[in-house]
Amino acid sequence: MISLRHITEADSEQILRWRNSDEVRLCMSDQKKITLIDHQNWLTDRLEDPANVGLIAEKSSIATGFMQFNILNPETTEWGFYKSPDAGPGVGREICIAAIEWAKQHLPVSSIVAKVVSTNAVSLKLHHSIGFELISEETWLSLTGYGQAASAHKFFRRNVRDPG
Ligand SMILES: CC(C)(COP(=O)(O)OP(=O)(O)OC[C@H]1O[C@@H](n2cnc3c(N)ncnc32)[C@H](O)[C@@H]1OP(=O)(O)O)[C@@H](O)C(=O)NCCC(=O)NCCS
Repeated sequence: MISLRHITEADSEQILRWRNSDEVRLCMSDQKKITLIDHQNWLTDRLEDPANVGLIAEKSSIATGFMQFNILNPETTEWGFYKSPDAGPGVGREICIAAIEWAKQHLPVSSIVAKVVSTNAVSLKLHHSIGFELISEETWLSLTGYGQAASAHKFFRRNVRDPG
């Protein structure tokens, strides 16, 4: 069973280690290793910004992954996540299902959107299997309000309140 809690300064080193691991980094849009200073600035911003929620997923009290919700407007939040490289198969899926429940209870939005690198077969499959629909670049832009869409990505949307 997964529980989610807000990140704190004490999670800093672990989040950076996960994010810079090959298992996570090579699946991301930006594959560069994050420097300690950039990471600290990112964490400080995140801890101060109520529209950018960072969560640690724990399974049997062991930290197993990171989830973020970036609230873009009253209807829409974008999510992003990764599991610990030490977590077993299926743990990412458990984290996502718990995070949808968390969003239902804590966020005022109706939609979760995601962008996934087109070659990230595991994440593409995962999004399909947990109720996300593939959307066009145009729909993505209108839901997010972004000026332009990243190339070589696929875009997804899920109604927060749809059943699993
Ligand atoms: C994405 C991530 C959280 C998924 O974790 P997970 O759910 O534990 O992964 P699983 O091993 O259970 O695989 C998820 C799905 O991909 C499938 N899969 C696993 N390996 C695969 C492969 N090599 N090719 C295609 N599909 C694969 C699984 O069968 C499963 O399918 P299902 O949902 O239909 O059952 C994890 O891989 C991760 O942290 N990746 C790096 C960061 C990342 O990609 N984040 C998402 C950014 S959008």
